[in-house]
Amino acid sequence: MGKPEKTGSDISLDEQVAKIFAWRRGFNTIFLIDIGVDLGLFKALAEAPGQTSAEIARQLKLHAHYVDVWCMTAFGLGLLDADEERRFRLAPHMDKILASPGHPRDLTGYVRLGTAFLTEDFARCREAFRTGETVPFQGRSHAFADTIGEAIRGLHAATARKILPDLEGMRQTLESGGRVLEVGCGTGRFLMQLTGAWPSAHCTGADIDPTGIEIARNKVATAGLEARVEVIESDVAKLPAASYDAVVMIEVLHEIAPQIRQHVIDGCAHVLKPGGWLLIVDETYPSTLEEARRPEFQFPLQTGFEELTWGNVIPTREEQEQLFANAGFKNAAERAIIGEGFTILSVRR
Ligand SMILES: C[S@@+](CC[C@H](N)C(=O)[O-])C[C@H]1O[C@@H](n2cnc3c(N)ncnc32)[C@H](O)[C@@H]1O
Repeated sequence: MGKPEKTGSDISLDEQVAKIFAWRRGFNTIFLIDIGVDLGLFKALAEAPGQTSAEIARQLKLHAHYVDVWCMTAFGLGLLDADEERRFRLAPHMDKILASPGHPRDLTGYVRLGTAFLTEDFARCREAFRTGETVPFQGRSHAFADTIGEAIRGLHAATARKILPDLEGMRQTLESGGRVLEVGCGTGRFLMQLTGAWPSAHCTGADIDPTGIEIARNKVATAGLEARVEVIESDVAKLPAASYDAVVMIEVLHEIAPQIRQHVIDGCAHVLKPGGWLLIVDETYPSTLEEARRPEFQFPLQTGFEELTWGNVIPTREEQEQLFANAGFKNAAERAIIGEGFTILSVRR
């Protein structure tokens, strides 16, 4: 989480101008990263640190001047380091973030979500501002569904290996054949992480997006996990009562249309066994103007803006709590904030 923006009447004109230049630089940087991932520039530097731009260009059969400008700009931004002879290498940790597909901190999918899909949405959204129309998430394309899963991959690993098992009683449950339902399983990345981490656990993934379901089913079949994992297109409320030890939702609550959110949370309560956990990893919208300037709310504010045309509305803390109370969860949800501003909510049946 970054520092709070300097605001208020003591801020100078130059400081305000500098903000615009910084944001514009951020815009370029995201495209520079995307180009570097796509053309293999980060990978080449991760595999053989200490290359000149000319050497990289030769190796990748790219134009020398283009690669030199890319390297110098990336160096200026702190993505690359270099020695006196302009032999470039990745700056510390950038190998994990930008050149290690599958690493839990790999952020290339998050970058790609912006360059490939959000640029399209922002280009088209003027008319939507006039009409309020939305284009639903579901059925957009395989590439979109896949990129979404890729963009939040860190949450899948963290939830499967730490956040879920750390809930009281869950580690033993997962070790002894426990049953977990993931509502809004998308392309099935969390299901794969969970079954990988807990070889005795049984999982069901449910979603309303046929594209995500198809990808998830293929993953399950390829991994030969059909005996332990099923993926269904279903409303959670139609599943058998008291049949799961835990229900998990990762970046789903804010994607559920507000008018059916209560129905889905009621459904989660309905399928949980007594003592079972509902675990939600999502985002929380600021309830007040004061919160809207706090660092931990900057990420959810951006999500709300990015996903406007998908019809997504990020719930506030009060809205989240009302959903649980209405569904009959007696105790207040445990709440924590992780990473850039994700909220972890856990509540017990
Ligand atoms: C941002 S994606 C997250 C997918 C997945 N949880 C992951 O972490 O990769 C949100 C998912 O919620 C699903 N979703 C939205 N409304 C739903 C509902 N009413 N019931 C089940 N899934 C829903 C969407 O179709 C989409 O697959």
